[in-house]
Amino acid sequence: MIQDGDAVFGKKYGKTAKYTDSDGKRRKIMIYTELIPSQRLPESFDGMRVLHLSDLHAKQFGKDNTALVRLCRRLSPDIICFTGDIFSRNETLEAVSAKLPFMKSLCDIAPTYYIRGNHENDADSIAEAFEEGMRKIGVNVLRNEMTAFTRNGESITICGIELPRSCYRRENGSYRDLTPASINMMKELIGDAPEGYTLLLAHTPLPFGEYAEWGADLTLSGHVHGGIIRLFGTGLLSPERRFFPRYTKGVYSIKTDRAQHLMEVSAGLGKFRINNPPSVTVCILARRNDND
Ligand SMILES: [Fe+2]
Repeated sequence: MIQDGDAVFGKKYGKTAKYTDSDGKRRKIMIYTELIPSQRLPESFDGMRVLHLSDLHAKQFGKDNTALVRLCRRLSPDIICFTGDIFSRNETLEAVSAKLPFMKSLCDIAPTYYIRGNHENDADSIAEAFEEGMRKIGVNVLRNEMTAFTRNGESITICGIELPRSCYRRENGSYRDLTPASINMMKELIGDAPEGYTLLLAHTPLPFGEYAEWGADLTLSGHVHGGIIRLFGTGLLSPERRFFPRYTKGVYSIKTDRAQHLMEVSAGLGKFRINNPPSVTVCILARRNDND
């Protein structure tokens, strides 16, 4: 029986892929495949492959991420979603702009959607310049925006929420008394949830309950880097310096009156990590009851 907030599929079945890094060494990256069932999914979307990438930060997989692009192509996604922190707040505009060819390569594979994380929000002018470049090459930049994705006359809605900086860190640098995300805050930022199947891109997984109540059928999140250090399948730390964060990696579920809501949390690609290799996830949407 699935309990509220439980990890339901657990990321047990990752496959290891090897790539050659820019220093010539062979390193590993994990590929996870998650089945995401919903009886609300339109029939045309049954089997749709959503590739989820997050938290690249300053890391490169091969020069200019060419190894990561190769991997993404091999996974044959129908869409690609990047859920924030594509750069770190201390990177220069030059370094950040150098990631545009990587994003263009993703767009050449499949329609690509991007939202900001807290690092982009901490470097607003660099983020704006980068986003302008991304829009020109065809990335769907969703800053509290939603857009329809249509197949065979049926559609789902892809939404990108951008929570304010105070939800991540206070102006004085403290992680205490952060602004809690609320459904009202979400409605003010992005409006009411659409009627039909809704894919929400949200950098932080912490307000999963609010995302579900708002009406997201599937939420894709990152931010927590799998808990940075993983021991016995548990993530130890959050970016907010909290021990044992609730959502770190895998698929979680909450049931409301409306539906079963799922959230896939990526452990991400970059930053310091122990026993917690970089990873990407392919979410395969399935039209069925979660108890099937
Ligand atoms: Fe983050």
